[in-house]
Amino acid sequence: MRIVVLVSGTGSNLQAVIDAVASGGLGVEIAAVGADRPGTFGVERSAAAGLETFVVNFNDFATRAQWDAALLEAVAAYSPDYVVSSGFMRIVAPSFIDAFAGRYVNTHPALLPSFPGAHGVRDAMAYGVKVTGCTVHFADAGVDTGPIIAQTPVAVLPGDTEETLHERIKVAERELLITVLGELARP
Ligand code: GAR
Repeated sequence: MRIVVLVSGTGSNLQAVIDAVASGGLGVEIAAVGADRPGTFGVERSAAAGLETFVVNFNDFATRAQWDAALLEAVAAYSPDYVVSSGFMRIVAPSFIDAFAGRYVNTHPALLPSFPGAHGVRDAMAYGVKVTGCTVHFADAGVDTGPIIAQTPVAVLPGDTEETLHERIKVAERELLITVLGELARP
């Protein structure tokens, strides 16, 4: 199963996928890693692992539509079976969703449909929930919407900050993402 992984940030989930693929048996090949901005740690991790790495820099395009078209073209060039949004902080265009219908997988650090968006951990803490978690789902054209594949609950502990909670969620998120990818890859 060939995947393209899209990242915007530090790429710790990407690293977990790289490590799981390297340890063998997952049935997954990372065809390429793409980013919406240059110079991130996610891009560095990808290059360090010797993976094909591309950047479709959002700021290089005069219009949103041009960026949408460039992202679709860059990803499609690798003919992936699945595209994985792993901390990719952009909503893709409906044309992208159409091209990879049912094959665009997103991870989110909350139990969707609660707390979608860029601040899932912060929003869950602000609400005062005692249990949050992570979700892996097939993304549609909405913000962190689309059919849920799997979720893991994570308790909010007394004294948690957004950072400590997010770190614990990410531990669960990495395991969940790798499990889901392994299941998708199984013939
Ligand atoms: C992850 O927790 C991911 O779920 C989240 O960004 C983090 C990226 O971490 N994504 C979203 O919030 C999407 N709405 P990473 O760059 O270290 O893998």
